[in-house]
Amino acid sequence: MKYKELAKTGEKLSAVGLGCMGMSAAYGTPDDTESLSTLQYALDFGINFWDTADIYANGVNEELISKVLVPNRDKIFIATKFGFRLRGGDGNAFVGGEAYIDASPKWIKQAVENSLKRLKIETIDLYYAHRVDPNIPIEETVGAMAELVKEGKIRYLGLSECTAEDLRKAYAIHPITALQSEYSLLSRDVEKEILPLTKELGMTFVPFAPLSRGLIANKLDVNSLASTDFRANLPRYQGEYLDNNQKLSAAFAELAESKSCSPAQLAIAWVMAQSDNIIPIPGTKRRKYLEENAGAVDVELKKEDFETIEGLLKKYPNIGPRYSARENKFVDKK
Ligand SMILES: NC(=O)c1ccc[n+]([C@@H]2O[C@H](COP(=O)([O-])OP(=O)(O)OC[C@H]3O[C@@H](n4cnc5c(N)ncnc54)[C@H](OP(=O)(O)O)[C@@H]3O)[C@@H](O)[C@H]2O)c1
Repeated sequence: MKYKELAKTGEKLSAVGLGCMGMSAAYGTPDDTESLSTLQYALDFGINFWDTADIYANGVNEELISKVLVPNRDKIFIATKFGFRLRGGDGNAFVGGEAYIDASPKWIKQAVENSLKRLKIETIDLYYAHRVDPNIPIEETVGAMAELVKEGKIRYLGLSECTAEDLRKAYAIHPITALQSEYSLLSRDVEKEILPLTKELGMTFVPFAPLSRGLIANKLDVNSLASTDFRANLPRYQGEYLDNNQKLSAAFAELAESKSCSPAQLAIAWVMAQSDNIIPIPGTKRRKYLEENAGAVDVELKKEDFETIEGLLKKYPNIGPRYSARENKFVDKK
């Protein structure tokens, strides 16, 4: 594994991290035995940057991770998030449940205690606001997060899916170490403003869903997704968009084959090549994929590879929106 410094903190994080959401939520049926083996395997590969959130199966994902985290605390840099809540306090935030955003100082104080208890640790390494709360000034949210640093409950602050304007406001209150937002071959909105701003501020940018939730890896059987799979309701997995995206993924897989790597490796390598302050967190619950994704650090892209990829994206442009209206309302659009 290769390592990168997290912002200017001196922390050395694996150049490819691990997204743990799918182990417990959103993508198919959980398999705790394989997930725990995958976490253990991540340690063997030196993948030390793990990502979770309190909303992933309502804390179950944090509890699962704690089983490997606690006996290996000094080897893992753990990131978790707060902010999504469910009306009634129960249900599935990904399918059917009614989620809302609460990034109020009052909830932050409670949420951090809940996460620390489930993770069974004393300090969270990186604590993200999962979304910007439309009803609370970002300065108040960040001010409350900064208090947690003073109290020793968290070490570094992160935000997820915020605008450049909100990121600047937040940064004026306390250094923001990482911004986590969607970034992949199919989701490139951050390229215009957000990515350059993270670079300017000396932050790390953490792309989530670098494999476009599995689509660009070209192995997902999209036609047999369970109705409980979050992706089944996303526009890119339906109708004309799906047709476009399957053709694009197949063509991308041919390019990967010509480079003797897998499409997932090529997709992760492409994201990493966009800026030196990027650390992606591909998600998997399988050892096989984890090993494959770790290999992305050795894939080199040449100028003509970038050009071929741009050509493919132009040839298959009908990718579709990344979220349906249900999820899109939570994305910061100020
Ligand atoms: N901040 C946010 O709002 C936000 C939103 C979404 C996700 N996240 C975080 O970001 C992490 C990564 O995003 P993601 O998991 O949504 O999407 P992703 O990393 O783009 O894709 C995950 C999907 O790709 C599959 N996959 C992984 N490696 C593969 C390989 N080598 N070959 C073929 N398929 C492969 C996985 O399969 P298996 O599941 O079968 O292993 C899973 O279905 C999450 O785990 C979560 O921690 C954050």
